[in-house]
Amino acid sequence: MKYFFTQAVALVLALTFASCSKKQEIGIPVGQFASLTGAQATFGQSTDKGVQLALEEINSAGGVLGQPIRLITKDNQSKPGETSTAVRELITRDKVVALIGEVASGRSLEAAPIAQRNGIPMISPASTNEKVTETGDHIFRVCFIDPFQGTVCAKFARKLGATKAAVLVDVSKDYSLGLAKSFKKEFEAEGGTITGQQSYSGGDKDFSAQLTAIKGANPEVVFLPAYYTEAPLIIRQARQLGITVPFIGGDGWDSPELAQVGGAAVEGCYFSNHFSNQSNDPKVMAFVQSYRKKYGDDPDAMVALGYDALYLLVDAMKRAGTTDPAKVTAAIASTMDFPGITGKITLDEHRNPTKPAVMLQIKNGKFSFMESVSP
Ligand code: PHE
Repeated sequence: MKYFFTQAVALVLALTFASCSKKQEIGIPVGQFASLTGAQATFGQSTDKGVQLALEEINSAGGVLGQPIRLITKDNQSKPGETSTAVRELITRDKVVALIGEVASGRSLEAAPIAQRNGIPMISPASTNEKVTETGDHIFRVCFIDPFQGTVCAKFARKLGATKAAVLVDVSKDYSLGLAKSFKKEFEAEGGTITGQQSYSGGDKDFSAQLTAIKGANPEVVFLPAYYTEAPLIIRQARQLGITVPFIGGDGWDSPELAQVGGAAVEGCYFSNHFSNQSNDPKVMAFVQSYRKKYGDDPDAMVALGYDALYLLVDAMKRAGTTDPAKVTAAIASTMDFPGITGKITLDEHRNPTKPAVMLQIKNGKFSFMESVSP
């Protein structure tokens, strides 16, 4: 009995110690929520790789304010509802002082009200829907927004000579709806006509009805503001139905799976993006080199945006001279001319940067740089 008692005490002590040492973990707690698995896994995995690369560089250079950054990452499995749980845990249990996430606008919109309510600054690396930062004064992003991206795509379509464009929108995504809207507005403003507007819902597999209708409308280009999870399927089915015109998409196409799944069907198509890893800017080239060294392949846009998001946060902490969330929020808000890999970042009064976009074309399965478009 006495022996059992001693053991029980030892166990309690051990447990207490374990929880103490957990609380004493060193470093500034920063939370990341991302789709590391599930439907849009490449989005989360890419951002995380960029954030990890920045983290390694920052911490090996001594961290910030004399402390390392301690990154706590949670996977939302690309599922609706999981982001709220992840963000609540990061804030209440892990006591993070700032949040980095998400790529998909829908999931950033899920997280933003929670961050806002708790007074924790949140930086979305890649969510382009206008509404994301409108949630409140703690919500920031390091990427351009869809009213700009849609305009870039519409102008590009006109430059290709198209006067008639079809639009195929994913009604389950704020991202797709917003981008379609800005494309249409600009394409019409530039004298073009929208013909054969069709819709689908993320996760659908059969697009023959919509594509048949689009074919009947005879467009010269099809605007497809989809994610990489549907875009290559749609374009393959379109080719089978005899639609030969180019498809144009937005940043949501950016994934190695676009070309892997799309194959010949996506060759020659175009999409707008935040970054090209073919840039000859020395800063971007150095970044691409260090990414290759660590991961063995080439970085996509989300890698670069994740990298920029963490560096921008650290820059704000340095300027704030503290990790107090309210002061860090104010410092992020006053970010000016921050030298990102994806361009110079100055946050406006709506907490959005104004940055150039790039147009890429799929050539031999690679995303080849066509042009950079300034706002
Ligand atoms: N901009 C997309 C969204 O808001 C996400 C995305 C960003 C996808 C960058 C790919 C590359 O939902």
